[in-house]
Amino acid sequence: MSEPLLHVDDLTIVFPGGRGALPWQKLPDVRAVQHASLVIDAGDTLGLVGESGSGKTTLGRAVLRFLQPDSGSIRLGDFDVTGFGRRVPTAYRKSVQVVFQDPVGSLNPSMVVGAIIAEPLRIHFDMNAGAARNRAGELLEQVGLQRHHLDRYPHEFSGGQRQRIAVARALATEPDLLVLDEPVSALDVSTQSQVINLLERLQRETGTAYLLIAHDLAVVRHTCHRIAVMYHSRIVELGDADDICERPTHPYTDLLLASIPDPDPAVQKVKSQRRRELAQGIAGASGRAPADSCPFAERCPHALDVCRESFPEPVATAAGGTVWCHLHTSGPQLGGRPVSELSTRSNAVRDAVAREAVAAPDV
Ligand SMILES: Nc1ncnc2c1ncn2[C@@H]1O[C@H](COP(=O)(O)OP(=O)(O)OP(=O)(O)O)[C@@H](O)[C@H]1O
Ligand SMILES: [Mg+2]
Repeated sequence: MSEPLLHVDDLTIVFPGGRGALPWQKLPDVRAVQHASLVIDAGDTLGLVGESGSGKTTLGRAVLRFLQPDSGSIRLGDFDVTGFGRRVPTAYRKSVQVVFQDPVGSLNPSMVVGAIIAEPLRIHFDMNAGAARNRAGELLEQVGLQRHHLDRYPHEFSGGQRQRIAVARALATEPDLLVLDEPVSALDVSTQSQVINLLERLQRETGTAYLLIAHDLAVVRHTCHRIAVMYHSRIVELGDADDICERPTHPYTDLLLASIPDPDPAVQKVKSQRRRELAQGIAGASGRAPADSCPFAERCPHALDVCRESFPEPVATAAGGTVWCHLHTSGPQLGGRPVSELSTRSNAVRDAVAREAVAAPDV
């Protein structure tokens, strides 16, 4: 088997707390990412999902080497990213590019689109002005815009078009990895699917790997080969995208899936019950779990005493992924099987719905 393109191993990033309102007050440090490990194969997409503040962007920024982690390592191909000194090699900047959520903020408003896309071409390929403009025109066409758009300013485009320009600029350096930080969150639903389809097509054409950051499993579900689920600085589940979405093994992944609305009323009934169950835990959650406990313990309807005492060791799931959850080794001892096997009220509703469907088959 060939080596993965990106290796993130045991990554920890802590932001110092800084000063409080009073001179003697010191705010607590923010543990943004703790012991995170993941890999991305060349040409693959890994979805990194989790709610706001879970550390997704911080992990992405470390991969981009916009910040230096406190411990752990990052390797991309032959680059030892965490071993770089203060100066990041230009070759690395060429290999990894980024597209941010906000296409307005990420495109220089005082430059025409042709100059925005030509800039990385001139830096990384040493192209002259004519060649760079020509290539910028090709890239615009590749993302579904036209050559005459080269002479327009970013404010003359819609949000979806601006995101296409940001993608064209990022792909200009022919990167091995593209970090996409919530690339469609600011767009309306139909534009979202256009941009996602575009990203999928470009990946087939260019073979670029993606780290796709999103807070919504619905966005990444059909786009990613693999998914890593993050909760409060920890990766809690990692595996094949279909397996994670069909047979989640972590209660938090289950909650994320229950939050995706379903057009089928019977399925929605089960999801609503499950959301209510999980919401009962939220009321008591302070969001300040001890560093070495499971951060989801305060919200988890199945939490055991051990969940508040230690963060679990990784467990291999039946489907070939990895889960960090004590339920698999203590208490019900799921042993890598889906969390839906636990008896909860929502599962009782699910079973009742299934029984009703058998009793009254569609005619
Ligand atoms: N430069 C910084 N200084 C201090 N704390 C930071 C800094 N950047 C992020 N944090 C904190 O680190 C934690 C993780 O933030 P991060 O932006 O990575 O979350 P996220 O998962 O990307 O959230 P969102 O979905 O809202 O973008 C948060 O508690 C945030 O407040
Ligand atoms: Mg973010």
